[in-house]
Amino acid sequence: MFDETITAELEDIRGRYPVAKAALVPVLHVVQREQGWCNAEAQQWVAGFLDITAMEVFEVVTFYPMLYHAPRGKHLIHVCRTLSCDACGGQELWQHLKAKLGVERGGTTDDGRFTLRGAECLASCGTAPVILIDGERHENLSHDDVDKLLESAT
Ligand code: FES
Repeated sequence: MFDETITAELEDIRGRYPVAKAALVPVLHVVQREQGWCNAEAQQWVAGFLDITAMEVFEVVTFYPMLYHAPRGKHLIHVCRTLSCDACGGQELWQHLKAKLGVERGGTTDDGRFTLRGAECLASCGTAPVILIDGERHENLSHDDVDKLLESAT
C-alpha cells in the first residue's frame, strides 16, 4: 500500500512497542499524513499490518477527533466552542463561519477548500475568540479577520 520509505517508517514505529496493537495511533497518524485521511482500505491494511481486527482500527479512527475517517478539505478549521470563547464572540464567529462557508459542524465546502470543526478549549482563553487553521492559532478575531484569513488560504 505504501512505498518502501513509508513502509520502513511504519515498521520502525511498530517495532518500538512490545505489542504491535500499541502502535495503532502513531501508525494511523502516518497513514493520515500520507493519504489525508484513514479510509476503509487503509484501515483494513493497518489491521493486517498490526495483526488486529478492522473493527479495532475503525473504533480508534472514529474515536479520536484528530483522525479522519472521511475526506476533509485542504484546510482544516477548528473553532473553539468552549465557554471563554463563546462569551467573547466565539458563538457569533461560529455562526459567521458556518454561513460564510455554507457548511455545518464537520462539513466540507463544495470546493473542497475548507473543513469546519468545533474544538474544546484551545488554551488561549485570554485572547478569545480563538480558531486554528491547519494547526496555526489565530486569536482576538473579528469577523473581518476571519474573512481575510479565509481569503488568504491558498
Ligand atoms: S475557551 Fe477558547 S481558548 Fe479557552
